[in-house]
Amino acid sequence: MMHRHTLAALPKLELHLHLEGAAPPAFIRERAKRNHVDLSGVFDDQGQYRWQGFSSFLSVYDAVCTALKTPQDFHDLTLAVLENSASHGVIYTECFLSPDFCGGGDLSAWCDHLAAIDAAAQTAQAQSGIVMRAIVTCIRHNGPEQARRIAICAQETAGQFVTGFGMAGDEAQFRPKDFIWSFDAAREAGLGLTAHAGEWADPDAIRATLQDLRVSRIGHGVRAIEDPAVLETLAETGVVLEICPGSNIALGLYAKLPDHPVAKLRDAGVKVTVSTDDPPFFGTSMTQEYSGLAQCFGWGRDEFADIARIALDAAFIDAPARAVLQNRLEEACPTLT
Ligand code: ADE
Ligand code: ZN
Repeated sequence: MMHRHTLAALPKLELHLHLEGAAPPAFIRERAKRNHVDLSGVFDDQGQYRWQGFSSFLSVYDAVCTALKTPQDFHDLTLAVLENSASHGVIYTECFLSPDFCGGGDLSAWCDHLAAIDAAAQTAQAQSGIVMRAIVTCIRHNGPEQARRIAICAQETAGQFVTGFGMAGDEAQFRPKDFIWSFDAAREAGLGLTAHAGEWADPDAIRATLQDLRVSRIGHGVRAIEDPAVLETLAETGVVLEICPGSNIALGLYAKLPDHPVAKLRDAGVKVTVSTDDPPFFGTSMTQEYSGLAQCFGWGRDEFADIARIALDAAFIDAPARAVLQNRLEEACPTLT
């Protein structure tokens, strides 16, 4: 069994992290005070986020985001999140950024917020070596019309830093086909595509997402385990799942880690990666996720190196930057890459 400090030091690539969802509660409390935002009801007695079940999680999440007002708030948040990730061995992270929370989908407000986030990412890279890329993300329950505005924000800012387009939010609202316009626009802008699917909804949602939105990655996708045909499609096409075991357990999809399908998905030939989703909400970290997988499924160096390689291949990043990360992985696991 690998020790926790060894697991913490393993180089990791995280493909599924919501920037606002990674905000430490103390940071949000301080910004709420500074920005005169009332967040009563959001915190429990220990000062942690208070929520119960998925819809309560989503509404607390929205409330938390109201504390973040200015580009400076997003700058400081980004720096704090990246420094924390780096302390868990993360060398590359893709963060979901939602223009909805950065000026409501207005392009010029989005550009101001994005510039601040990009500047913080540069600082973090200089300080800790961590590389960040941004996935502009529409929020499903805000509807297809708003998603178009978000896709335009993505299109207009696609480049070195913004390399992907995604969709999060409540899977029970709308259908994947309602978002075809937005995903087509993002694809035309050269962005990598991912969408949350098969977290709450059944495997048909994964099928529809692949067909209608033509994504190369699926956020969660764990319910693929319930449908052998979907499993086969994922294995054959090499679509990558961004799996967040701690998130799924905290939200009640599975009672405990031994019940989680991540190892079975991997054994079925599906490309799986590991991420934290919204770590302070779910009481997790990348080290914690690795430690759980090591304990529960006996994963060690080989499995984690394999996962890192899958994530590197699936990353929304250009060839030169991918090669730099590849070198960092090779330095850490010389026999495996
Ligand atoms: N937004 C942040 N975390 C999410 C999750 N786990 N599912 C859907 N939308 C989200
Ligand atoms: Zn997510």
